Amino acid sequence: MAEYKLEVTTGNMKFAGTLDHIHATLFGTQGQSERTELDKIGFNTLSGTTRTYTIQTTASLGKLLLLKVEKDPFFILPEDQWFCSKVVAATPEGDAVLFPCYRWISRGELVELRGGNAVKVFEEDHPLLTDHRNKELITKKDLYQWAITDEKIPHHIQYMDIAELPAEVQYSLSRKQDFRFTKGLAGVELLFKGMAGSTEQWESFENIKDIFCCEKTPMSEYVAEHWMEDDFFGYQFLNGTNPMKMERCSELPPNFAVTEEMVKPFLQEGSSLKKEMEKGNIFLCDQKIMDKIPTREYEGEHLQTASGFCLFYMNPENKLMPIAIQLHQEPSEQNPIFLPSDSETDWLLAKIFVKSVDTLIYQIVCHLMGTHFLAEVFAVAALRSFPVIHPLYKFLIPHFRFTLHINTLGRTTLVGPKGSLSTSTLGYEGVIEIIRRGLSEMTYSSLCLPENITARGLDSVSNFYYRDDGMKLWNIINSFVRKVVAHYYRSDGDVVKDTELQDWISEIFTHGFLANNLGGFPTRFNTVEEVVKFITMLIFTVTAQHAALNNGQFDFISWMPNGPLLTRKPPPTTKGQSSIQTILDTFPNVGETVTFAAQAVVLSHKYSDTVLLGAYTDELFQEPALKQTIKEFQADLCGLTDTIAERNAKLELAYTYLRPTEIENSVTI
Ligand code: FE2
Repeated sequence: MAEYKLEVTTGNMKFAGTLDHIHATLFGTQGQSERTELDKIGFNTLSGTTRTYTIQTTASLGKLLLLKVEKDPFFILPEDQWFCSKVVAATPEGDAVLFPCYRWISRGELVELRGGNAVKVFEEDHPLLTDHRNKELITKKDLYQWAITDEKIPHHIQYMDIAELPAEVQYSLSRKQDFRFTKGLAGVELLFKGMAGSTEQWESFENIKDIFCCEKTPMSEYVAEHWMEDDFFGYQFLNGTNPMKMERCSELPPNFAVTEEMVKPFLQEGSSLKKEMEKGNIFLCDQKIMDKIPTREYEGEHLQTASGFCLFYMNPENKLMPIAIQLHQEPSEQNPIFLPSDSETDWLLAKIFVKSVDTLIYQIVCHLMGTHFLAEVFAVAALRSFPVIHPLYKFLIPHFRFTLHINTLGRTTLVGPKGSLSTSTLGYEGVIEIIRRGLSEMTYSSLCLPENITARGLDSVSNFYYRDDGMKLWNIINSFVRKVVAHYYRSDGDVVKDTELQDWISEIFTHGFLANNLGGFPTRFNTVEEVVKFITMLIFTVTAQHAALNNGQFDFISWMPNGPLLTRKPPPTTKGQSSIQTILDTFPNVGETVTFAAQAVVLSHKYSDTVLLGAYTDELFQEPALKQTIKEFQADLCGLTDTIAERNAKLELAYTYLRPTEIENSVTI
């Protein structure tokens, strides 16, 4: 006789336990056990418990290969799902084999768990496992299929409704409850004040402060006080929600009609634009991606966006100051250069149009496409290409938690024809078009922070905390990824012969980057180094980059004048005609404003079941070396948290979005 002790752990979330009967069967190289019932009654009725059961066999099963788990009804009670976290099997030979599960199990489902260390396809040494691996991938490719909304935007999962999503990629029950609550809360507050749906215009800037009497942050209050100031306007292009669209300017674009004389008064005395460009103190935000973009029809006419240039000067106090704005690409008499010396409302109106366009680009191109859509592509490709025993599945799957759920939801409520972004200046057609343009401009190096910063000439810019914290995070993630990848890929040859890894990157290239050969994206991996770089970029994108772009939404955008997603009047074509009333007429009306603000509340909310960068709450790796590597990664992140706290203590305005304690391990919101 031989005995196997099974330590079974149930998840610690709500309703994880079950009353149903659970049966287990062990498969080894020397045979299989009887199908054994693990408990007579009341199995695992409590969440977060670990119980031990015994499976007896006539002889040793040899090396353990698979554990089959089945759940059958308890009397005639309705379906009672069970969240099994893991099973650890102690063998008669004294080994402990980890079988990670971490999923909901329904009645009648075929659940066969692989145990032990991670295995790549060319390392499989048993026909049973090879067969299991192949069947798993066939099932996964059927469950997770690519769908196309538009030929020129990244492909996505085929499910149109969150209720159709497989349980393993849905929000947890507690997140679903929390999410509804937050959305409801915002709606209730706004309705209570009679603002939702109101077509009234704002009567003054002060009135806008009534939106969220109970919902504010120190930063959102700061924004509401300082949004008109030039140095705070400049600050946001480095450390606001969109630090991605400004670059050093060493030569003016030929279609930007700004002259030396125009900007001389705003530079250091005795200096010139040419001299300041040579010193590296001039910066440009070029919004040409908006040029001739389709826009939404509003009250019988098509709205207009700006699509011009904003020129900045890094002054001797290290403040980034806007010094000239041209609101369209082609210079003309109807396209004047706005300057800080213009009337207060002319200059403010010009800045509002720049910020409105910047907010649209930020939200749709940088945030949604650059993090959410890419995260989904990486996730779907991984679910289709890697079996759960693959080391990169174990490594990456925590970084895809809840991403398919939020994106499936967002495709309807944010970017769909009836989504809230379709009520922006762009409308649905414009939203899709800007995603197309954004993707066609995207390059592999633009996704890799060190190359991105250098390409934009921002290596030495002062007070650029997104870069400072982002680079430290990039390096910490890179060092972590290097250790994990090196553990599993001892040589470039290992990389080349891992057909599942090659399938993964090929799917990403085809379905995410749409086979764009000009973007420098990898089509296959030839070296360990190439894998390390790509996975560094992936983890950085779905954690740090998403946090930097997502988490300040409420802080910076709930105060609508700082970045209106809708401008109801066209950009000004002459100077000296504007007033405060022109600005108020340009803003969205009360109801439109509160809709956008409510969205910022929901998307900036901190949820109770958040998993932070590096937490790796599920025990997927059995290998001690990997567990140690994860601990080192966590220690590095703790160190960075302290460094950022010390730096922030000295700042008037702390930059908090890249504190590791604020960064989620995946795109979930
Ligand atoms: Fe997000």
